[in-house]
Amino acid sequence: MKALILSGGHGTRLRPLTYSQQKQLIPVANKPVLFYAIEDVIEAGVREIGIILGPNKEQVIETVRSANWDANIEFIYQGEPKGLAHAILCAEEFLDNEEFVMYLGDNILRNGIIEHAKRFKELNPDALILLTEVEEPQRFGVAELDEKGRVKRLIEKPKAPPSNYALVGVYFFKPVIIEACKNIKPSWRNELEITDAIQWLIDNGYRVEASIVTGWWKDTGKPEDILEANSLVLDEIEEKIDGLVENSRIMGRVVIEEGAKVMNSVVKGPCIIGRNSRIVNSYIGPYTSIGKDCIVEGTEIEDSVIMDGSVIMNVGRLVECLVGRNVRIVEENSKPKGYRFVLGDNSSVVL
Ligand code: G1P
Repeated sequence: MKALILSGGHGTRLRPLTYSQQKQLIPVANKPVLFYAIEDVIEAGVREIGIILGPNKEQVIETVRSANWDANIEFIYQGEPKGLAHAILCAEEFLDNEEFVMYLGDNILRNGIIEHAKRFKELNPDALILLTEVEEPQRFGVAELDEKGRVKRLIEKPKAPPSNYALVGVYFFKPVIIEACKNIKPSWRNELEITDAIQWLIDNGYRVEASIVTGWWKDTGKPEDILEANSLVLDEIEEKIDGLVENSRIMGRVVIEEGAKVMNSVVKGPCIIGRNSRIVNSYIGPYTSIGKDCIVEGTEIEDSVIMDGSVIMNVGRLVECLVGRNVRIVEENSKPKGYRFVLGDNSSVVL
């Protein structure tokens, strides 16, 4: 079986971060979201992976190549992001008439995909979709099931959802899905929807089965989703202190990466402090990820993701913050006193 992992799209709901960073590269517990998908498909035994690229293609290639993978990885350029079914059509040559798993690179699943891959093999349907119950089904593709739990109908982001079962961004397909993708029309958002392609399979007598996801699932489409995914992953992190700790109190499960220094501070897990970062006279609280090469001084941070190279000094207390790379948040005593910001388009400041 092959795998197609999607790492394109504009990520508009994650602006301003996505002006300069492809959304699937945003870190969760100091690891790009995309890497969780690659790890899951490799764990399920797949060795041929195609990664679909969009706007920031070089960035994705460089990041993926910076790690060692036990698989062959090919990159496929989608050009304009015209939908998930369009991505499959771009990969037709790579897929080469084989069955495959499609994994959206901004999704994270607590339990991986091994059990679903097994179910696909056992039931041998034309498509296997993953479903999970959610509170806001209108944000997702939604499945209507019959009394026996079989898939009756799929609708993309319905205003009046027929159930709470959302389509998780992992799908297993037989090659017939290509024919389906060729036979559908663009939706109201002008995309070839994978949901419509699967509906085409149902309408044309092909067998579509469902597999229910146990354990948490997160689509990291919005800032609050990134923070939530970060806490879910950190919740299971194992303690590992490779950096230097001086005159500080470390409580709970904390990861301090090599070259990092924690001085005169309190660190309360679960949290992670990245390579070569410096924490001085500060409090780093639960559910916080500090990237590499950061400096935090005289500040309290909780429930936050701070990305590589950022400097935060003497700013009181930060909670639920998503801070991009190389950001400076500092307090200076110069006049005139007051908040001074240089904020990019679509930034958000809550005081
Ligand atoms: C896509 C799919 C949707 C699915 C979701 C899961 O939505 O179209 O059916 O529920 O991924 O992450 P999108 O992220 O394109 O809005």
